[in-house]
Amino acid sequence: MATMTSLIGLINKIQRACTVLGDYGGEGLSLWEALPSVAVVGGQSSGKSSVLESVVGRDFLPRGSGIVTRRPLVLQLHKTEEGTQEYAEFLHLPRRRFTDFAAVRKEISDETDRITGKTKQISNIPIQLSIYSPNVVNLTLIDLPGLTKVAVEGQQESIVQDIENMVRSYVEKPNCIILAISPANQDIATSDAIKIAREVDPSGERTFGVVTKLDLMDKGTNAVDVLEGRQYRLQHPWVGIVNRSQADINRNVDMIAARRKEREYFETSPEYGHLAHKMGSEYLAKLLSQHLEQVIRQKIPSIIALINKTIDELNAELDRIGRPIAVDSGAQLYTILEMCRAFDKVFKEHLD
Ligand code: GDP
Ligand code: NA
Ligand code: MG
Repeated sequence: MATMTSLIGLINKIQRACTVLGDYGGEGLSLWEALPSVAVVGGQSSGKSSVLESVVGRDFLPRGSGIVTRRPLVLQLHKTEEGTQEYAEFLHLPRRRFTDFAAVRKEISDETDRITGKTKQISNIPIQLSIYSPNVVNLTLIDLPGLTKVAVEGQQESIVQDIENMVRSYVEKPNCIILAISPANQDIATSDAIKIAREVDPSGERTFGVVTKLDLMDKGTNAVDVLEGRQYRLQHPWVGIVNRSQADINRNVDMIAARRKEREYFETSPEYGHLAHKMGSEYLAKLLSQHLEQVIRQKIPSIIALINKTIDELNAELDRIGRPIAVDSGAQLYTILEMCRAFDKVFKEHLD
């Protein structure tokens, strides 16, 4: 019997297979939508990229002021054995292993430009990236363009609504776990993240509230009321985060130092000391992984049903085109079918 860890790894594989399937004929879409993932949402410069990088434990995302993330990034984290080499792989560049994370950042940026040009425009077409590392938890994260209030020079007026629609198309799915990022130096009542989360998940059962920039609050104020759920109640606990400041980034403060600093911040804080064990990037990653495992376990029966439906559809399609063996669409369908069968078998084993 495999562990939950490998079960989530399996889910990641299925999501990749379904993307291929979706590209092929749209058949895989329903299967893809059945599986949980985590989308990071919030206003521009609320700290989304910083939180994502902290969860991954690596610097690899294009960052900067203004609109940097202009296509959705579907990021799958795969935990590998201790001592193995960390690497990244893009779906659009199969078999090319990136071990230099600066090159990953560059490729995300280049691949964004390939679709949108070097503009401030956005595209709905996701970039799919997998990271294999002993230092991550198994998780699928989706980075989305930041919500904005006004179009800037070089953008169409519709961009505010376009981004909101794109974000909504991800977070409205019942299987999407929402990581709602709000900066502590703005009123939670004005948080773009909470606004959209409340709209699509009124009961708060799939929303994790994350408060960034605790270190930047005005003297004499604190976020204890928010973090203890008294200001806006969610079913999951709020998590406070201290990311690297722009000055830290400029000084190339690395991730390990950033996490140590974050831990120290909470442990020595007069306001948050009593919450220290439930705060910070590492705790957030653990919380998310645990929740994801629980959700996946509940979903196994319906995933099996969907896989069987896909197998039936693929069989029908193969019958229709007459099972060719040459390297063509039939062979591709056959491969996908074999994959589905394999997944089905493993899933059934996980039911006990
Ligand atoms: P995004 O636009 O939502 O992806 O936000 P980024 O992660 O790029 O962060 C925007 C800016 O805010 C950067 O200059 C970060 O250094 C800074 N920042 C983000 N989180 C924090 C935080 O917790 N504390 C401080 N001091 N700065 C932060
Ligand atoms: Na930004
Ligand atoms: Mg960003």
